[in-house]
Amino acid sequence: VDIKALLAPAAASGGSAWAAAPGGPVAISFGGGLPDPVTFPAEEIELAMKRVLRQDAAAALQYGGLMGFEGLRERIAAKVRREDGRTIGADQVTLTAGSSHAISLACFAFVSPGDSVLVEAPTFAGSLRAIRSYGARIVSVPVDEHGLSIDGLEARLAELRTAGRRPKLLYTIPNFHNPSGATMTTERRRRLVELAREWGLLIVEDDAYGDLRYEGEPAPSLFSLDEAGLVLKLGSFSKVLAAGLRLGWAAGHPDAVAALVSVRHDMGVSPLIARTVAGYAAGGGLERHIQRLVAHYRAKRDLMVAALGEHCAPYVRFATPAGGFFIWLALAEGVDPDRLAEAAAQESVGYVPGTAFFADGGGRRNVRLAFSFAPSDDIERGIAALGRALARSV
Ligand SMILES: Cc1ncc(COP(=O)(O)O)c(C=O)c1O
Repeated sequence: VDIKALLAPAAASGGSAWAAAPGGPVAISFGGGLPDPVTFPAEEIELAMKRVLRQDAAAALQYGGLMGFEGLRERIAAKVRREDGRTIGADQVTLTAGSSHAISLACFAFVSPGDSVLVEAPTFAGSLRAIRSYGARIVSVPVDEHGLSIDGLEARLAELRTAGRRPKLLYTIPNFHNPSGATMTTERRRRLVELAREWGLLIVEDDAYGDLRYEGEPAPSLFSLDEAGLVLKLGSFSKVLAAGLRLGWAAGHPDAVAALVSVRHDMGVSPLIARTVAGYAAGGGLERHIQRLVAHYRAKRDLMVAALGEHCAPYVRFATPAGGFFIWLALAEGVDPDRLAEAAAQESVGYVPGTAFFADGGGRRNVRLAFSFAPSDDIERGIAALGRALARSV
């Protein structure tokens, strides 16, 4: 049968997440932005799940409703109230199958085919695929070491106005950006929120990495700065607890949250998982875990930064990220990216080429390294291998 002939546009345009990952298996992978499996608190999760099954089996094993388990939504709302200084209740939070699901729901609810959606260039490749699959016209706005360029955004907005097109939504990762590692300055955040109000633009603020800060003080979230109800803030338990739970959330104006819920046809996330996470987080378990993660990933980042200095310095430039999982390399002039791909495969070290993170070209001379996943003991060896590959690519 010719299944391809039957495909709807979303599937025809999509391509899977893994199809974007280059090359075959490698001995040391700095490719995927995966959490470190040694950090997964399996025993505590087991205990929490056992407790749920002993005390609340009927509810935990039943359909749980489209909004998701209220106890966990209340816990998330309390965190948002505490950190963002906004008075929101559990009715303004909905649970999703990871934050990537929340991104899909936001597109489903707000993006019609042909609508313009503003994204950062570069940006998270999974979000690009999602946004594209809803038929959006993707409009790229540059990112520099201070995050999304507001001058770049204003230029794009002016072009759209001239073309008679009104952008619907802007997707941004203000903290420890994937892939660039950059964090948006407070000044830019303020201007972005002002522009959103001026243009009636919905901002999807993806804060997948915000809790993994290795130094400095947090900048105010876009959600905290927004008085107009135009910011939808997304969070995830993937990076701070376990990606396999498939649990994330969206918080925002009640109408925006209701819109996300209205396009769900899957009966909601797992009540068993949501109750387990709520039970684990109760009594400060999650907070303590995040403190341990921060120390763990900070040490891995420092290992990678030191190894890059030792083995790769003549061939790359990079800024040290203050949090998150990624170091974004700019290749020095003489380095040939295609030869680097070949040499890195021979050295059996994996990374993601920069091109994966741009909607319309760009990134040929960039490489994303994740320091999160590879065992700490492999980081120095892997970066030494990358250094040899770089030396052969000049
Ligand atoms: C910026 C960003 N958003 C969302 C996700 C998806 O995470 P989740 O597991 O919550 O769907 C990732 C994962 O790599 C990410 O980097």
